[in-house]
Amino acid sequence: MAGTELFGNEERKEVMDVLETGVLFRYGHDSQRNGVWKAKTFEQEFSTYLGAKHTHFCASGTAADSLSLACCGIGYGDEVIVPPYTFIAPIEAVLVAGAIPVFAELDETLCLSPEGIEKAITPRTKAVLIIQVFGSMGRMDEILAVCEKHNLILIEDAAPALGGSYKGKMLGNFGKMSAFSFDYYKIITAGEGGAVATNDDELYDRAHKYSDHGHDHIGNARGAEQHPILGYNFRGSELGAAVVLAQLRKLPYIIEKQRAHQNVLKQVLNEFPEIRLRNVPDEAGDSATFLSFFLPNPEKAIKVFDEFQKEELSASYWYRNNFHYHRQWGHLKEMKSIFNLPVMKMANAPDYRNLEVPQSDEIMQRLMMTQIMVTWSEEELNTLASKMRSAIKKALK
Ligand SMILES: Cc1ncc(COP(=O)(O)O)c(C=O)c1O
Repeated sequence: MAGTELFGNEERKEVMDVLETGVLFRYGHDSQRNGVWKAKTFEQEFSTYLGAKHTHFCASGTAADSLSLACCGIGYGDEVIVPPYTFIAPIEAVLVAGAIPVFAELDETLCLSPEGIEKAITPRTKAVLIIQVFGSMGRMDEILAVCEKHNLILIEDAAPALGGSYKGKMLGNFGKMSAFSFDYYKIITAGEGGAVATNDDELYDRAHKYSDHGHDHIGNARGAEQHPILGYNFRGSELGAAVVLAQLRKLPYIIEKQRAHQNVLKQVLNEFPEIRLRNVPDEAGDSATFLSFFLPNPEKAIKVFDEFQKEELSASYWYRNNFHYHRQWGHLKEMKSIFNLPVMKMANAPDYRNLEVPQSDEIMQRLMMTQIMVTWSEEELNTLASKMRSAIKKALK
């Protein structure tokens, strides 16, 4: 992934700033830290990048999902509409919140469809958790309209699409609160880390307090702070913030490169009338971290996948083997938790063994995805393009 491809002196310098002060904690110790505030600086620069009023750096993307739900007041018995195609972290966060994940259908954007959301609404629905999956976005205008019509909170997990935008507005700036991950496999990384973004002052206030055991962060004596609410620990460290700060400054370059590289590979796909690209509601806003495309039927998709593998091209056929689609979530279906999740005790708990999303299954069976790298040279890119062309030709002959 982009971030790990570009580690360099910039990350080292930011980390060394922190190590030289010895203040690894993001709050307090003002006199010791020589003006070094990496989490705060990251939050300021990340807010500017997103065009959001506030961001809060935290421990992980999963923490950011939990924090978003908590700050939006989602808890026991609330239904949250979620997609069946995502890394499972946001679903886990809903379960841990004591809420109920309700699965809805995707469309060819690969994100929740507005129609699917509308069908999944019940009197207990409180929120929609959209995941801007693998680089791009859902049909945001229509999704926002459905949420408004039914008075639902939109939470956005933009972890897989950081750097993307929709009609000029950055992804991660559509939800009442939005979540990001900076784990090792994200476009920018801190090794471990995450953030939430919001334009709502009250939600931001809840976010920094809830992430730190309810501390109000007023004044500079931690022991003297008030704790107006119960909280938890979702804090990120200064070291993680230092790394992701350096990475954030590289993000515009990363996006530009990815878009250029994706464009070359898209042109190869466009040579094949049987192939259709993923529906990207605002093509100019694709973060271009991946390239997703459809074959006319599952058999052809599997053949293309097999040929890509033979050519050692990056290839994901999510319907069958990988962990990002509901069919692989046996632990969820059988509710294999190590403790009693609230949902397991609810009379109206869904039986996920019966989870059926036929429209999503149909779409996912035709889907192939390949990853875009930032550091490809022109020569490497041309070699990849011709390998891709010949793999597809073989598969579709
Ligand atoms: C959509 C989404 N949300 C949340 C997460 C969790 O992030 P983390 O690994 O930082 O907890 C991931 C991780 O892959 C993700 O893809």
